[in-house]
Amino acid sequence: MNRPLIIAPSILAADFANFGAECRAIEDQGADWVHVDVMDGHFVPNLTFGAPVVRCIKTSLPLECHLMVENPEHYVEAFEKAGAHSFIFHIETTVAPAELVAAIHAHGMKAGVSLNPGTDISTLAEVLPLVDSVLVMSVNPGFGGQAFMPVALEKIRTLRAQFPDLNIAVDGGVNAETGAQCVEAGANILVAGSFIFGAPDREAAIESLR
Ligand code: DX5
Ligand code: ZN
Repeated sequence: MNRPLIIAPSILAADFANFGAECRAIEDQGADWVHVDVMDGHFVPNLTFGAPVVRCIKTSLPLECHLMVENPEHYVEAFEKAGAHSFIFHIETTVAPAELVAAIHAHGMKAGVSLNPGTDISTLAEVLPLVDSVLVMSVNPGFGGQAFMPVALEKIRTLRAQFPDLNIAVDGGVNAETGAQCVEAGANILVAGSFIFGAPDREAAIESLR
């Protein structure tokens, strides 16, 4: 695998009182993509924001929208209109993942599928040949700042062995140490929230993940 490593800071950890400035700043601080955590209070026990807020984010970086919501198919059009580059749904939230991937592609976005730490990768079999990326959760989704769960490493390794060209992302508890373990296991996209936004020097924090 020799594609460049992508660093995607999760703006869940940004200062929401300065949301616009934080989103612009992270671009100059070395981010490749912006990771946007959308939570509905049903699939996960927390609420964040939806497409109207995403539409206000001014950045030239791709907006990777991670939908931790039930009925993700209801939001495909809204996120396209909000300017999402990719739409990541959870495999636990749909019984028709292939149809959902087709809808995401029809709306001009990249399609990603995510799975919780307790969900087996065998559940992805039907969609793996269809998606543009897999987002392996290394915490139970809902909150930033949780500890990395090593179960993610095994999943990344197994996926990488089967799919040499797949975009494999990891999300949750990523720092310089766990990030390096994920890259060694085969991940090529690192999502990190508190490690980057909580760092005194965000540029250095992003660089330390590379
Ligand atoms: C968790 C979110 C993550 C989270 C990562 O539900 O999907 O993107 O913001 O935050 P850290 O890096 O702090 O674990
Ligand atoms: Zn996320």
